Amino acid sequence: MSHWLEDQNSSLEGANRNTFLTKEKLFESEHFAELSLDILLVHDYNWQIITINSAIEEILGFKPEEVIGKRCIDLVHPEERENVQNIIAENTKKKVKYKNRILCKDGTYKWFQLNAIPIEKENRIFVVGRDVTEKERMMEQLKKSERLNLISQLAAGLGHEIRNPLQSVRGFLQLFVKKYQNEKEHLELMISELDRANHIITEFLSLSKNRSKNPVPLNLNSVVANLFPLIQAKAFTEGKDVRLDLNISANIIGDEEELKQLILNFAQNGIEAMEPQKTLTIRTASDQSYVLLTVIDEGKGIPSEVYSKMGTPFVTSKADGTGLGLAVCYSIAERHKAKIEVETSSNGTSFSVKFPKKLK
Ligand SMILES: Nc1ncnc2c1ncn2[C@@H]1O[C@H](COP(=O)(O)OP(=O)(O)OP(=O)(O)O)[C@@H](O)[C@H]1O
Ligand SMILES: [Mg+2]
Repeated sequence: MSHWLEDQNSSLEGANRNTFLTKEKLFESEHFAELSLDILLVHDYNWQIITINSAIEEILGFKPEEVIGKRCIDLVHPEERENVQNIIAENTKKKVKYKNRILCKDGTYKWFQLNAIPIEKENRIFVVGRDVTEKERMMEQLKKSERLNLISQLAAGLGHEIRNPLQSVRGFLQLFVKKYQNEKEHLELMISELDRANHIITEFLSLSKNRSKNPVPLNLNSVVANLFPLIQAKAFTEGKDVRLDLNISANIIGDEEELKQLILNFAQNGIEAMEPQKTLTIRTASDQSYVLLTVIDEGKGIPSEVYSKMGTPFVTSKADGTGLGLAVCYSIAERHKAKIEVETSSNGTSFSVKFPKKLK
């Protein structure tokens, strides 16, 4: 890449070039720069990119010539821009390390670990950037499952403690219904509120289970087909439609009650996210190693503040939601060694659950 060599040359202008690199070394460094799997970049104190290796094309999608001359700070995620500016401003001599998100050509962001050395008298900052998006994602998943574990343990303990007093209050209320007929309506409301609380606790307790109660070989298509009338009834009352797209799907080993719960939670969220006249699709498919269940809606997408915490109990954007539906789905999937993948946009959301065909 000639621009690398030329720019490297010009970046050394004014300095004693021989003290830095001989011609031969420059030739070598050009090749190493082009072979690097990391992004190598030189910019000035005005953030203007002077040179960059071609790794950028593979990682971010931009060609080097598309970004040379542009201000690299503009590619940094707006939330981290000030921080990066401060780091560079405060460190005029030392090597600095920082982490931030960088814009890709397709409009998404990737996480980068960056090492930079400022050389003030040359008006140059040398930067090496490594794409750590995958590592960040895994760390995030790990944190999520640790959070889920902690919450599960708490749930198991608290749930039982709370349920017992609720049951005895409920018993007394039932007695009062007979005794105080003129308060019947209020008392029945109190009972139904207690039942709702009990339902939430039951759902919450199911998060703390490590193993499914009753795993047996079953066919996902028939589980979906059995649930269909229930899901359809809910959708119809709201003027929405449900479509099944059941393809040949292999048996999996699973707990039928839990799988019904998982499908219902996804379907319920999908229906709630859609305007009337829209359609929810439940699809099954399979390949050599997986059986795939996908619930696709035509709703408005998952709000970004929910997306970053998805699967965490009690995260909800709904006035009457408890925020347990997805947490329950994630814990059921985990017990089935299945993986949940989400795609969401303003045109709709799809949740896919990938079940392994054979459980070890
Ligand atoms: N298909 C979807 N489309 C858009 N947003 C969704 C979808 N599924 C989930 N969400 C978002 O995720 C949040 C959490 O969902 P979750 O099912 O865990 O709780 P909830 O639906 O709010 O309450 P509940 O516990 O009663 O199900 C929702 O409040 C909503 O903001
Ligand atoms: Mg829900």
